[in-house]
Amino acid sequence: MTTAIRSRITGTGMYVPERVVTNHDLAQRMNTSDEWIRQRSGIAERRHVDGSETPMDLALHASRRALDAAGVGPDEIDAIVLATLSPQHEFPGTSFFLHHALGVPEIPCFDLRAQCSGFLYSLATADAFIRSGQMRRVLVVGCEVHSTGLEFTDRGRDTAVLFGDGAGAVVVEANPDADDRSGLLAIRMHAQGEHGKKLWIEAPGSSYYPERFTQEMFDAGAHYPRMEGRFVFKHAVTRMPEVLRETLDAAGIKQDDVDLFLFHQANLRINEFVAQSLGIPPAKCPSNIERFGNCSAASIPMLLDEVVRAGRLRKGQLVAMTAFGAGFTWATAIARW
Ligand code: COA
Repeated sequence: MTTAIRSRITGTGMYVPERVVTNHDLAQRMNTSDEWIRQRSGIAERRHVDGSETPMDLALHASRRALDAAGVGPDEIDAIVLATLSPQHEFPGTSFFLHHALGVPEIPCFDLRAQCSGFLYSLATADAFIRSGQMRRVLVVGCEVHSTGLEFTDRGRDTAVLFGDGAGAVVVEANPDADDRSGLLAIRMHAQGEHGKKLWIEAPGSSYYPERFTQEMFDAGAHYPRMEGRFVFKHAVTRMPEVLRETLDAAGIKQDDVDLFLFHQANLRINEFVAQSLGIPPAKCPSNIERFGNCSAASIPMLLDEVVRAGRLRKGQLVAMTAFGAGFTWATAIARW
């Protein structure tokens, strides 16, 4: 009888640009206030690039930290999966620029587009490569530069205040030790394309003819994110508990046995609502949205790195990671550390 291969996260890393942008800074640029932003989202500040760093640079720092933590060299990974909704060019994906900067051999790499659930979708992809025996080590990265794509005016204020720049990375490896119970226990993913336009950037787009971007689109701000905030909120607080319960069942784990719940950092109120509805104590739900805002695909790996480095996730403990985002997409991954 063959023993099933299990994958596990062996190293984590994160990186954010140095420039801190507070709510007060934003209030200088548009009609908003520290009070409004904190009350609605829990965000106090976020990081923005200053022109000296590309998304690849953020991803590179986070990846090197994750590789160092895992004790793995760039020449020892078998693939790179990079989740982003803010690629540095139309094509090729950010992962290719990271591939070059890391100096890895001719291993495959690709960008994965599942917005704020992108990291968990990418983790599931890496896990499938590893469990199938095709690969032994995969670098999974979440990376966003939002700040250069937001509208810092009254028209864009509902989204401009929410998002930040950052990157998080993990090394996922096959666990060769059959007696070691650590690793990914279950991942469940969902999508509902019906709501694709409830949170999106419309243009440029190859659906337009004869050109992907026009002056009219520019004037209308079609290249900035548009969001039906309340609609997104309502779906997030329904779907996150649903997929968390489904994944706990799949893993055969009781909710009370989970040591840490890492929720996507879109809005502290969403996460408080989800935790409360499931009866999860706030002490089990760390957050960093106060300092970094919503970094989409980077949020969960950034938070994971923080809790690991703070010693809040110890060997044998259970962690559940849950995301919801544009698409709509939602997912949970449960791991024993
Ligand atoms: N500062 C001040 N006022 C603002 C503002 C800002 N940055 N953005 C919007 N407003 C105004 C609106 O114009 C509106 O004014 P009006 O009542 O005069 O029309 C008012 O505040 C209330 O707007 P509303 O959209 O109803 O607020 P809300 O309570 O739904 O909170 C969000 C807005 C965006 C914080 C909230 O809907 C949310 O968090 N949604 C989910 C967002 C999310 O998680 N997105 C990412 C998913 S991955």
